[in-house]
Amino acid sequence: MDHGRDHSAASPDNAEGALAKARREIVELEAKLAAAEKARHHAESAASAKEQLAAIGELSAMIAHEIRNPLTIIGNAVATLRKPLTSAEDRSVLFGILEDESRRLNRLMNDLLSYARPVSLQLSAVNVREVMERSLSVLPPHASIEKELFEPEPVGRVFADAKLLRQIFENLLTNATQAMGREGGILTVRILKAERRGEPCVDVVVEDTGEGMDTSVRDRALLPFFTTRPTGTGLGLAIVARFVQAHGGSLNIRSAAGKGTSVHVVLPVFEERADG
Ligand SMILES: Nc1ncnc2c1ncn2[C@@H]1O[C@H](COP(=O)(O)OP(=O)(O)OP(=O)(O)O)[C@@H](O)[C@H]1O
Ligand SMILES: [Mg+2]
Repeated sequence: MDHGRDHSAASPDNAEGALAKARREIVELEAKLAAAEKARHHAESAASAKEQLAAIGELSAMIAHEIRNPLTIIGNAVATLRKPLTSAEDRSVLFGILEDESRRLNRLMNDLLSYARPVSLQLSAVNVREVMERSLSVLPPHASIEKELFEPEPVGRVFADAKLLRQIFENLLTNATQAMGREGGILTVRILKAERRGEPCVDVVVEDTGEGMDTSVRDRALLPFFTTRPTGTGLGLAIVARFVQAHGGSLNIRSAAGKGTSVHVVLPVFEERADG
């Protein structure tokens, strides 16, 4: 475009002047931009510090609540044990309570550490079926629960942390067993080949014929400390979700009250079949 101003800018003096002005303006703009960026960063970190504090406050309140119960029970038991007239029989019951409650506190602490500690994966080529078989074998024996394990076609190995995988499976198997209660039922595990966004995956399905979950329980099941069981910490599924996520996998729960539950853990396969 041939504007009059461009003609005057053609003289070297004018051109240099205009260039110097443009440089000054750029420097000013840069300074303003830096100041704005600093203000934005400041506002953002203030907001995230506030959010972090709120989250810590909420978690602390939940932990305090979880610890207070066993501590109160322990305190009461000790007070009764101190009384000279407490019978030998009562003493033995009270010692049992002390044991149970300290075990509960210990479990809470371990679960909390599993849930809150940063996950650092020790990856190796893992045979999912072998890990599942081991997890099934340590389930407490239950006369009226029938256990079934299917792997219709070999899924090969996944690149995973075997220890965490075992913890994932054990939590799910324990939940399934507890959901079937005394009546028992069928616990079915399926290890299936699957695909997610075109990538090969393993879909590990843990299915029970237990009490199932209504939508309000289902919606809260993954929240830390949510439990409907008297001795639960409510961290089991929260830990499972965290570990699955750390593996780049996904967790999906299908359940209906009275109709049992199936939990899908989908893990990416990083290494095609290499086992013999
Ligand atoms: N297979 C299942 N069938 C029915 N309900 C389930 C099942 N798995 C989980 N739930 C529901 O979700 C809740 C949360 O499960 P989660 O494993 O996180 O905690 P928990 O089993 O109660 O306690 P913890 O695992 O710490 O012993 C359970 O209390 C139960 O209500
Ligand atoms: Mg559980």
